[in-house]
Amino acid sequence: ADQPIVLGFETSCDETGVGIVRGIELLADAVATSVDEHARFGGVVPEVASRAHLDAMVPTVHRALDQAGLKLSDIDAIAVTSGPGLAGALLVGVAAAKAYALALGKPIYGVNHLAAHVCVDQLEHGPLPQPAMALLVSGGHSSLLLVPDVATDVRPLGNTIDDAAGEAFDKVARVLGLGFPGGPHVDRAARDGDPAAIAFPRGLTGPRDAPYDFSFSGLKTAVARWIEARERAGEPVPVADVAASFQEAVVDVLTRKALRACKENGVDHLLIGGGVAANSRLRALATERAEAMGIRVRVPRPGLCTDNGAMVAALGAQLVASGVEPSALDLPADSSMPV
Ligand code: KG4
Ligand code: ZN
Repeated sequence: ADQPIVLGFETSCDETGVGIVRGIELLADAVATSVDEHARFGGVVPEVASRAHLDAMVPTVHRALDQAGLKLSDIDAIAVTSGPGLAGALLVGVAAAKAYALALGKPIYGVNHLAAHVCVDQLEHGPLPQPAMALLVSGGHSSLLLVPDVATDVRPLGNTIDDAAGEAFDKVARVLGLGFPGGPHVDRAARDGDPAAIAFPRGLTGPRDAPYDFSFSGLKTAVARWIEARERAGEPVPVADVAASFQEAVVDVLTRKALRACKENGVDHLLIGGGVAANSRLRALATERAEAMGIRVRVPRPGLCTDNGAMVAALGAQLVASGVEPSALDLPADSSMPV
């Protein structure tokens, strides 16, 4: 009961997330999304996302309070994603969080979006094992992070050098004529396909390549070329086989590199987060390969993998617990914030 109640705001991309936690206990997780407004553009349009955040913000705060059965006066601290993300979208969340902090006279904590994706698993599976390795895969990022302490010490080991994993799913879904966002569609289509049907390239897996960096743009191009060749030959495109083979190429590289990072850094817990962590094949293959190496995999349920406010509140509560000083009330939004 002594644990602080933290209200968290997330607006770095197209989800307006407001969450409430008490320590590592999840009390509310309200999310509004503008995803449908971006669908016809095949990607998130920053200006559209910012305006949608503005419309959704206050109603989403009220939904979260209703879920938790709390009043604003019950809140002990505010946390907000201050970066990285879309500049205009971040600004809406940061401005709202400042307004609530000022009005309530409570401290505000600007938090890193990537660290929040890691921290959220505490709400489902209990205190984070430390150190942990984290694989963060979403529409905006593909990172390997060594996490000695999620509140104070998160070390990036590698990143994508071109497209994010989710971006590759979205682009391949588009050339296959599936919907947006593409990840769930590819995941579903792949269930009826053969993952070994087509040998698509595994980027950056050569002996001289950076062991913890990722590259998915070559894979995306290879899939597009393969489909074009079929169409030119007047042959039908086997959508399920293409989806399964593409998905296998992504997931094979992600799990191989993440587990290698665990082994080389002496870490025996792997956390997977971000929207792509909802992928059924990634969850299965990571668990299967990790088991063989004596490594434990933790993946939050899909609703906590995609962007949400609860993850921000979770990290805020962790900062409070670690005795980290709050941010100043003029804290900036930083679209390219490093971890
Ligand atoms: O974390 P998130 O909601 O937002 C970002 O921060 O980007 O991730 C969204 C990304 C999209 O690219 C979407 O296609 C992908 O996550 N995604 C998936 C699945 N569900 C969502 N990718 C593969 N398989 C899925 N089941
Ligand atoms: Zn995210």
